[in-house]
Amino acid sequence: MDLQLADKVIRVTGGAKGIGEGIVNVLAAEGAIPVVIGRKEADNQQVVDALEAAGKQAFQVVAELTRPADSEKAVNAGLTQFGRIDGLVNNAGVNITSKTADTGQGNTSAYAAANGGRNALTRKWAVELLKYGIRVNAVVVAECWTPLYERWIQSLPNPTDKLASITAHIPLENRMTTAEEIANTTAFLLSSRSSHTTGQLVYVDGGYVHLDRALANAD
Ligand SMILES: NC(=O)c1ccc[n+]([C@@H]2O[C@H](COP(=O)([O-])OP(=O)(O)OC[C@H]3O[C@@H](n4cnc5c(N)ncnc54)[C@H](O)[C@@H]3O)[C@@H](O)[C@H]2O)c1
Repeated sequence: MDLQLADKVIRVTGGAKGIGEGIVNVLAAEGAIPVVIGRKEADNQQVVDALEAAGKQAFQVVAELTRPADSEKAVNAGLTQFGRIDGLVNNAGVNITSKTADTGQGNTSAYAAANGGRNALTRKWAVELLKYGIRVNAVVVAECWTPLYERWIQSLPNPTDKLASITAHIPLENRMTTAEEIANTTAFLLSSRSSHTTGQLVYVDGGYVHLDRALANAD
């Protein structure tokens, strides 16, 4: 399926690492022009350089997104050059959200609450922006190997055992979701191929949230 994303200018927050980097790469492969927004210039530039070396177009904006002025800078970047924003992926902060809002996790009250907030904001913004024809969706992730995930697992007492136990309970194929798999669904949601889909929480989680994990893959 041609997602018809060629030459679309799409901003991706946290686009230099992990899930965001996966999204940037898939968008570039679809012919879009990703804008990598992140706090570290060298990390952003590394992604842009790799894409340019492969003949793709991309650019970057350095922004610490907890600062409103930086967020404004990120929105305005490229507007003079391209005159438009075709899509936005709120990956670092909002809209690439976590199953913890549905399932809890243990010792992660603030994170679970923040994810409930992200889900609510997805619905809220979808309603608010209807009048402009702007669609808003979220992609819900359970377990995806990224620098952030690696830092979290290494903070636990027995990281290797813990990881094995987590993946054993992911119903589909007993494995982590890849950043590319999350990126593929995100690209679809950004595209006109999902033109009547808005306000949705789309789970790309190998069945983690909705299938019976205790019984999945039972003999
Ligand atoms: N990895 C998972 O299993 C998982 C699961 C559920 C949800 N998520 C969500 O997906 C998103 C991406 O996670 P990830 O695992 O790819 O993270 P990551 O830390 O591996 O990558 C995030 C990138 O965003 C940048 N960034 C973070 N906060 C920023 C800020 N305030 N301003 C500018 N740049 C900032 C980081 O420097 C980094 O480059 C997060 O919102 C996370 O909560 C991840």
